[in-house]
Amino acid sequence: MTTDSGRVAGSSDFTPTREDKFSFGFWTVGWQGVDVFGGAVRPPLDPVEAVHRLSDLGAWGITFHDDDVSDFGTSTAQRLEQLAPFRKALDETGLVVPMVTTNLFSHPVFRDGGFTNNDRDVRRYAIRKVADNIDLAVELGATTFVAWGGREGAESGAAKDVRAALDRYKEAFDLLGDYVVEQGYDLRFALEPKPNEPRGDILLPTIGHALAFINELERPELVGLNPEVGHEEMAGLNYAHGIAQALWHGKLFHLDLNGQTGPRYDQDLRFGAGNARGAFWTVDTVETGGYDGPRHFDFKPPRTEDMDGVWASAAGCMRNYLVLREKSRAFRADPEVQEALKASRLDELAQPTLAQGEGIDALRAEAFDPDEAAARGMAFEHLDQLALEHLYGVR
Ligand code: GCO
Ligand code: MN
Ligand code: MN
Repeated sequence: MTTDSGRVAGSSDFTPTREDKFSFGFWTVGWQGVDVFGGAVRPPLDPVEAVHRLSDLGAWGITFHDDDVSDFGTSTAQRLEQLAPFRKALDETGLVVPMVTTNLFSHPVFRDGGFTNNDRDVRRYAIRKVADNIDLAVELGATTFVAWGGREGAESGAAKDVRAALDRYKEAFDLLGDYVVEQGYDLRFALEPKPNEPRGDILLPTIGHALAFINELERPELVGLNPEVGHEEMAGLNYAHGIAQALWHGKLFHLDLNGQTGPRYDQDLRFGAGNARGAFWTVDTVETGGYDGPRHFDFKPPRTEDMDGVWASAAGCMRNYLVLREKSRAFRADPEVQEALKASRLDELAQPTLAQGEGIDALRAEAFDPDEAAARGMAFEHLDQLALEHLYGVR
């Protein structure tokens, strides 16, 4: 099958097609390398050029923060005017804007966050900024609105009353949920957890915290998650397990794919770099778990790179995803793996523990020998060895 981008879908040369639904934050390829120890190493990137380059590489979508593509503080009408060349580039290439997000962390006014800032005036401004950006998002066709609460948090104990802050967090999402419904917008929110950085401790630090928070909202059906690989791994957590649980709750609305090497600063490496074994299980879970949203990359091309390195890094994200997708498929199709899955009793796990009509009495009436059952091994090592051999490329 030939795709919009003229490439052949399903070929195993790891060339991305539009059907793969790869999207990139503009702030990823546009990152100039400013960090806490040094200034910019790369020139500013024009959003128009980003659209063309990403399109040429085979991407399907581009996402952005309000302030990435237009000046801080401008009205929605002014923004739409500033965005005219960007929209023209979208039309020319066919690239879509599936998601938009708001910057509530860069301007000094957000030094203590947006929705949970102790300063009430700032909270009121933050909600208004997001509402304006929602209008813009819908105008550009986005159906997901990511909310990363980067500065919603604290460095010290008494500085933040966490329960009051969560009340304010809920108040903001309840209000914005009402707004989306009143306007008749087809838009859902995706919360992005992160444990720390830039704050010492950030509210809603993990997938689990965020899932529990969503249940307290007035319109929980409008709110899901945008989990990022590196953010869960910074907390020592298993990302594939995290998104599997989010899928189980029907809450995996969006994804931020990137690479991380264990608990340290947020590395935002290109996808597939860092924890390669974790990346394999991530792709396996995304591809087999019923997720059909964007495969969105949120990475930072290291500041060692010039612009050629930036595009190489972006291409690497997509290529690594496709390599791992092929490996996951080969793993699942391997007859020896299917045997090993059976030996590990995955088919039994999929069966309800009690049969229809059975109760605790049936369990009590059962002749079960714990010592006999305790002697059975689970055969997981052989199964995992097969997975690693697929990953290592020897099967
Ligand atoms: C991070 C975050 C951010 C957010 C993005 C969306 O790396 O700390 O991932 O990149 O995803 O700013 O608001
Ligand atoms: Mn990150
Ligand atoms: Mn992210």
